[in-house]
Amino acid sequence: MSAQDLALAALRRIDPERAHRLAMAGLSLGLAGTDLAPTPALATTACGLAFANPIGLAAGFDKQAQAVRPLMRLGFGFVEIGTVTPRPQSGNPRPRLFRLPEERAAINRFGFNSDGIEAVCARLRRLRAGSRLPAPLGVNLGINKQDADPVRDYAALARACQPHADYLTVNLSSPNTPGLRDLQTAKRIGAILSAIGAVNRLPVLVKLAPDLADDDLPDLLAAIAEGGAAGLIVANTTIARPEGLRGVHAGETGGLSGRPLRERSCAMLALVARLAARRAETSSLTLIGAGGLSDAYDIITRVEAGAHLVQLYTAFAYDGPALLPRLKSDLATDLARRGIARLADLRGSAL
Ligand SMILES: Cc1cc2nc3c(=O)[nH]c(=O)nc-3n(C[C@H](O)[C@H](O)[C@H](O)COP(=O)(O)O)c2cc1C
Repeated sequence: MSAQDLALAALRRIDPERAHRLAMAGLSLGLAGTDLAPTPALATTACGLAFANPIGLAAGFDKQAQAVRPLMRLGFGFVEIGTVTPRPQSGNPRPRLFRLPEERAAINRFGFNSDGIEAVCARLRRLRAGSRLPAPLGVNLGINKQDADPVRDYAALARACQPHADYLTVNLSSPNTPGLRDLQTAKRIGAILSAIGAVNRLPVLVKLAPDLADDDLPDLLAAIAEGGAAGLIVANTTIARPEGLRGVHAGETGGLSGRPLRERSCAMLALVARLAARRAETSSLTLIGAGGLSDAYDIITRVEAGAHLVQLYTAFAYDGPALLPRLKSDLATDLARRGIARLADLRGSAL
């Protein structure tokens, strides 16, 4: 057993939020290692940005931008920090993060605990003042629980952080901020994107919930493209609970992530990709697949279903930094065996 495996095993025995804090501290100290060796078959471009590989760290892991560079050095192709809110807020009372190890899943109801945009931007400014970041950086934006005005707030957030980011994500899909997911209508997304467009020049992605009805997707896609967004992240955590979900915490309120989310988020991505391809205005949207990805097969399946990039969180929380070299090497081996030069060549092949 390696020192890293031992550390992971120890972390799994303590309260998950505390374990996450300790893991972040270890990462910040550079204890988790580095994997920056290029894998040419995995390099890709999207949203006008170059990615050494398409595997990103999803929002929520580094909400306050405290370990961006060490996380990038682990080998992620990109890192999305946040969700960041306009004003600092502490989020929901603890406990608010639960493991479901039997399902390789988690339930969280953090409710956007955020240091606020000013503190996070100050951190990003210092980060950018150092040497060039090894990978693209996304900033995920959300609204405060109280006194929110979504159109005003998303525009202000975008204006504040655009000097420090490579892309922005408009998070309309976390289940733990009352009313947030109601913003997922064509009209409201249109108003938010147009306010952001007036102050921002970065690519903007919209992150959707897996619980949206399939019938609502065509109008949403049209509004997202019309509003000038560069793409979508499909998807956030779910409030649905698959029948027979195992684990002592399976009944907790919050967003479910990890393996039980895999089928729905992949099916939703495939549907979004099919709908997007149908119309000229939506056909150039960048699609990021997220939800339940944990091995090379999942990544290939998501790319075949139309993803340009993927993101993961829960599998990384379970497997630790060793996950990245394993994913990259398994992907490269699989592509070589099938005689495929680049993972990106498989994009949309299952549609
Ligand atoms: C503990 C936890 C916190 C999260 N916080 C955020 C967040 O602040 N903003 C966001 O957009 N998504 C957040 N997410 C959702 C993830 O970014 C991702 O979309 C979701 O977990 C599905 O991916 P996974 O199955 O690989 O975890 C969070 C997920 C977890 C598990």
